This record gives sequence, structure tokens and C-alpha cells, in this order.
Amino acid sequence: MSGPSIVVTRRWPQAVEDQLRARFRCVSLNESDVPLGEAGLHAALREADVVLPTVSDRLPAELFEGGVRTVFLGNFGVGHNHIDVEAASRAGVVVTNTPGVLTDATADTAMTLLLMAARRAGEGEREVRAGGWTGWRPTHMLGTHVTGRTLGVIGMGRIGCAVARRARFGFGMPILYFDTQDVGPDRHGIPDARRLDTVEEVLESADFVSLHMPGSADNAHLVDAARLSRMKPTAILVNTARGDVVDTDALVKALASGTIAGAGLDVYENEPDVPEALRALPNVVLLPHLGSATVETRVAMGMLVLENLEAFLDGREPPCRVC
Ligand code: DGY
Repeated sequence: MSGPSIVVTRRWPQAVEDQLRARFRCVSLNESDVPLGEAGLHAALREADVVLPTVSDRLPAELFEGGVRTVFLGNFGVGHNHIDVEAASRAGVVVTNTPGVLTDATADTAMTLLLMAARRAGEGEREVRAGGWTGWRPTHMLGTHVTGRTLGVIGMGRIGCAVARRARFGFGMPILYFDTQDVGPDRHGIPDARRLDTVEEVLESADFVSLHMPGSADNAHLVDAARLSRMKPTAILVNTARGDVVDTDALVKALASGTIAGAGLDVYENEPDVPEALRALPNVVLLPHLGSATVETRVAMGMLVLENLEAFLDGREPPCRVC
């Protein structure tokens, strides 16, 4: 045996695939980049010592039932709600993720969505591309002012803090936030950021709300019709966290009826399906899960997976162990 057998479920940046090939002899790369699907993942867990999945792979408890050969799952990504980590752990599988290296890229994407939704950039771009622009006029496509408006952050982890800092120091936005943990200025770096006691209080007071809680059963539809109705009718919701933290049907209704003014979304409940009702709305900016999509970040994510894997294989504690 020449080292562990490794299955990589999707194409990775070339630099990382080169490292994998250089360091390990038995690596199966996915050159076609077609997702393995349930059957392919089921087989990989039974045939390979190491599986390196990502957010587009679903690994529910059933896939671990009856025992697996895999002993290490190195997720390419920080969010791991697509993996039943308890079932993995019961099956003796160590799971790792890639926190930290994608914080700035994802925070930048949240700001992109916030600005695009506020300034109607998607609508404007569609108008120009369609040849529909008739020229400058004082009342053309007026948006919402961003500078100095209040940002509400739900989930003040690494990415939430990074968004808050961009908004506070780049755009002079007062910061309100909700988090179950007491996150102080030593972590978020914003002396005048205010922690509120409930999600509702943040929703009621903010002009922009950016979601940064982890995807989990507890957070599913955390932003539902009742909570959307607590937001200002002029407010804009940004979601770069996970699709299922927002009730999509309720969001469509809120955007269509004017309960809120707009939204910017990078993530969806059933990716890559984006409901037609959402795509038809002019006041929502829709990105295809680009949060961490910079060359530098995706290479860093891949290298961090390798670091975790090598620690595991050397018998050391992987730096980003989830379970
Ligand atoms: C993550 O890492 O969880 C992202 O959503 C993938 O870019």
C-alpha cells in the first residue's frame, strides 16, 4: 500500500491539485467536475481512506450507515451543514473544515451584495445590457443611501465581524448585532458596536441586515415571515450564510409586497435551483454562491484541507477538526 487512497469530489484549483498529486500516490481527482451524487459518495466512503468533499456534496446519516472505509473527511469550505457530522463521528470518521482563510473574501461578497441591492446595480446592469438605457436623468433608478445607515449583523463570528468592520470603518455605518455569544470589541474591533438581546430587535432597528449564522437545524428558517415583517419597509436583507436560514417563500412574498425593499443573496435553499418567483423579482440581487470565490482564497482553502489531512495522517490533531 502506497499511502492513503484519496477521493476529491470536485475540481480544485490547479495549484492544490498539483500538491495533492505531488504528495500522495493514490489520488482520484474529479477532472470532469460532475458531482458524484449520492451513489458516487456512497461508493467513495466505502472505497477510499480519505474523501475530500465540499458544499455541493450531501453527506447525510444514511451514507454512513453500515460502516465506511473512510477515516477522514476533509471538507473544502467552512460550512459543514451538508455533512451529518454526528453520523460521521459515530462511523469513526474525523471531519475537518477550512475556517479563517475565506473570511475576507466572503465579507467582501456580503458588501458587494449590500451595495448592489442598495444601488440597484443588478437592475442597472440588466438595463444597459438590454440596450434599454435612455440616458441620465434626475429620477433614474434611484437607490438607497448606504453611508451612515445602520447595519444589523446576525451571527457575529469571523465573517460577521469582518462585514461589520467593513461597514463601520469603510462606510461609517453604526453596527448592531445579535449573537448567542458575548462577542466583545477585542474580537470584532468596533468600540461602539451594540449587541442587542434578540434577532427581532436587530431586524427592527437596522437599515441593512446581513446574515452570518451557521447553517444548522436550529437556524433553519430563522428569518421567516414573522421576522421579515419586523424589518423596516426600506430595509435590505443580505444572505451569504446558508440558504435555509431564510424561508424563501416568505422572502419572495416580502420582496413582492414591499414588506422589505430588497435583498442580496449568494446562497439558496436548494442550490443550484433558484425559484423562478425569486428570479422574476427586480429588487433582489442573485449571485451563484460566490462568497469565497477568489483564486487566492480557493487555493488557501485547498491548502488548508491538505494541512488538516497531513496532520491527521501524521497522528497529530488536525488544526480545523470539526469532530
Ligand atoms: C463555505 O466555505 O462554507 C462556503 O459557503 C463555500 O464557499
